[in-house]
Amino acid sequence: MFASDVLVVGSGVAGLSFALKVASFARVTLVTKKACADTATNLAQGGIAAVLSAEDSFDAHIRDTLLSGDGLCHEDVVRLVVAEGPTRVRELMDFGVRFQRGETGTGLDLGMEGGHSCRRVAHAFDLTGREIESALLQQVEGHASIEVLENHLAIDLLLESKINGRSGNKPDRCLGAYVLNRETGEVEVRTARITVLCTGGCGKVYLYTTNPDIATGDGLAMAFRAGAKVANLEFVQFHPTCFYNPQAKNFLISEAVRGEGGVLVDASGTPFMHKYDPRGDLATRDTVARSIDAEMKQSGADCVYVDISHRDPDFVRKRFPTIYRTCRQYGVDITQEPIPVVPAAHYMCGGILVDTWGRASIDCLLALGETACTGLHGANRLASNSLLEAVVFAHRAAIRVKESWPDLQRLPDKPVVPWRVGKARPIEENVLISHNWDQIRRLMWNYVGIVRREKRLQLVRRRLAPILEEIREHFYDYLPTADIVELRNIAVVATLIIKCASSRKESRGLHYMADYPAHDDEHFGRDTVLDKTGQ
Ligand code: SIN
Repeated sequence: MFASDVLVVGSGVAGLSFALKVASFARVTLVTKKACADTATNLAQGGIAAVLSAEDSFDAHIRDTLLSGDGLCHEDVVRLVVAEGPTRVRELMDFGVRFQRGETGTGLDLGMEGGHSCRRVAHAFDLTGREIESALLQQVEGHASIEVLENHLAIDLLLESKINGRSGNKPDRCLGAYVLNRETGEVEVRTARITVLCTGGCGKVYLYTTNPDIATGDGLAMAFRAGAKVANLEFVQFHPTCFYNPQAKNFLISEAVRGEGGVLVDASGTPFMHKYDPRGDLATRDTVARSIDAEMKQSGADCVYVDISHRDPDFVRKRFPTIYRTCRQYGVDITQEPIPVVPAAHYMCGGILVDTWGRASIDCLLALGETACTGLHGANRLASNSLLEAVVFAHRAAIRVKESWPDLQRLPDKPVVPWRVGKARPIEENVLISHNWDQIRRLMWNYVGIVRREKRLQLVRRRLAPILEEIREHFYDYLPTADIVELRNIAVVATLIIKCASSRKESRGLHYMADYPAHDDEHFGRDTVLDKTGQ
C-alpha cells in the first residue's frame, strides 16, 4: 500500500497550492526540510504579474515576457500562462491573500517592474510572498487530507528500476522518495503514486545570493540523479539590487523600488543606466545586472546605489515598509539617502524539464515552481512572472492528476527497498562539509558569474573535479545529515550549470559569454537539455 497518494516535496507557493488542489480527492504528504514558511516564496517582495487593468492586455504581457526571454521562451507556454493569470490571482484572493488595493479601494494597486510595459504586478506592499505563503499555509494546516512533515529532507527518489531493473526503453517510474527525518536522523521510505518536486531554486550555489538557506537545488539534483531531463541551467538570474551590507544577509531591494522612481547611481550620485540601455532603470534584469557589473569593474567600487530619496518620504515608508525598516536597522534611511546595492544570484530560469502539465521525463514525477523548466522564462525571466508560473502550473498539474486518478489508483504496489547504510558512520568533523561548500560557492561566483569566458569555465571544471570527488566520498563514508545531503546537491547543481554554460557558445539573456558576445540563433536558438546519459 502506498504510504500516501501524493508526495509533495517543498512548501512554497507551488507545493502548497498544488497540495490544496489535489487534497479534494487524494491523501497528500507534504515534506519540507525546515519549517513550512522557510521558503523563497516567503521572501518574495515584488509580487505576481498578471493582466489586471483595462490599460493592459494579454498581448502586451506576452510581448514583454518574450522580449525578456530573448528568443528562448516557448510561446505556447507564455500564452497559456498569461491567459490564466487573472483567474489564478483571483483564486489566491479567494484563498485569503490580501493584495494591496488602489487609492479608491476598487481595483488592485498594481506595481511596475523592469521589462514590463504596463503596471501589472499585484502586491502586498513589499511583503507579497509572506502574504501568499501565510494565506496558503493557513488552508493547508489542519486540512484533513494533508499531512505536513517539517524537518524532513528528501535525499533521493525511489525508482521502479531499482526494484525491477530497467525494462527496455520504457520510462522509469517514480514511487516516492527517501527522506531524512532531521529530528531522528533516520532515513524514511515515503512511497506515493505521484511525487511532486517543488524545492525552489539553487541560489546557495553562489557566494552571494538573495535566496534563503534552503535554496540548495535539492529537487533538481535528485531528479537529475534519477535520470530525468533538466534544461537551461546556464540561465541564472542575478538580481541587480541586493542590499550591500555584510551583516544584512541576502536582503533584497525590490525592483519595485525602481518601478516607483528609484534611480541607479554611482558613488558620486550620477545616474548611469541610460548609458547602457534606452529603457534605463527599468530595462530587463539581465541588462541591469550586467550594467552594474560593468560600472563596478570600471570604477573599482564595491557597490552602486539605488536612490529613491526624491520621492515623498511618507509614500516610500508606506509602499516599502520592510525595506525601509531593514535598511534603517543597518543605518541607511532610504527616504534621505541612496541605498548601497550589488547584484546577487536570485533565480534559476532553467530546471527539471516538464511539459505543459508539469510532468517530468520520469513517469509519476512532476516538478513545479522554480524547480521546473516550463519554457515560460526562456533565457531571462520577466520580473514577477515566477509566482504566476507557480500557481498556473500547480493548477494545471492538479487537473491532470485528477484526470488520470482512476489509472493511478490501479498502479500496482511495489516492495520497498530500504535505504542502504553500508559502512557509513557518523561524521566527526563538520568542517569538512562547510569547507567544500565554501569552495564551490566561491568558485561559482568568481568563474561562472554575470560575465563568463571560455577560459574561466575550463578552469572551474578543473578546480571543481577534486572537490566533487571528496564530496562523493563523504556521501558514502558518513551517515546522511542535512549538511551532507545539501552539499551533494549543490555539487550536482554547480556541475550542471557549468556544463550548460560551457555548451552555449553565444550570449543570450542571462548567459553572457565575453568570447561570444552575439546571439547565434542557428546553433543555439534552442534549449540546452541534459540528462545523466549525456544525451
Ligand atoms: C523583486 O521584488 O525585485 C523580486 C521579484 C522577482 O524576483 O520577480
